[in-house]
Amino acid sequence: MSDLLPSALAVRENAHAPYSKFQVGAALRASSGAIYVGCNVENVAYPEGTCAEAGAIAAMVAAGEREIAEICVVAGSPTPIPPCGGCRQKIAEFAAGGVPVILATTSGAQEKTTVAALLPGAFDAGHMA
Ligand code: THU
Repeated sequence: MSDLLPSALAVRENAHAPYSKFQVGAALRASSGAIYVGCNVENVAYPEGTCAEAGAIAAMVAAGEREIAEICVVAGSPTPIPPCGGCRQKIAEFAAGGVPVILATTSGAQEKTTVAALLPGAFDAGHMA
C-alpha cells in the first residue's frame, strides 16, 4: 500500500462534488518529504471545477516546492481511476517520467504506474527551444 493513501483517503472526504457525486482525493510527496493533498472542487458553472490532483499540486507550489516524488489518487470507483488528460500534463510539469503514480479505490484496489506511462510523447519546454 502506498504510504500516501491514508492522506488521499482523508482529503477525499472534503471533496466538493455535488454535481458528479464523484469524490476524488490526491496526495503527493514532494522532494522535501512533505505531503500535500487536494480534492476535487466542483462549481455550478461546470468547467470551473478543479480536479483533486490540481489542488494537491497547487498546495505544493504554494508551499514553495516544485518537485513531485510520488503521487496517489483515490476515488470510490469500481476500478482505480486514471488522472484526466489535463491532470497528466499538470503532474508532468513537476515530476520526472519515472515518478510513481498510485491509483487506488476506497475499497482497496490499487495500481501502480508512472508519469511517463500516463503521458507518452508529452509536450515539454524542449519543444519551444
Ligand atoms: N476528477 C478528479 O478530481 N481527478 C481525476 O483525475 C478525474 C476526475 C474529478 C473531476 C470531477 O469533479 C469529477 O471527478 C468527475 O469527473
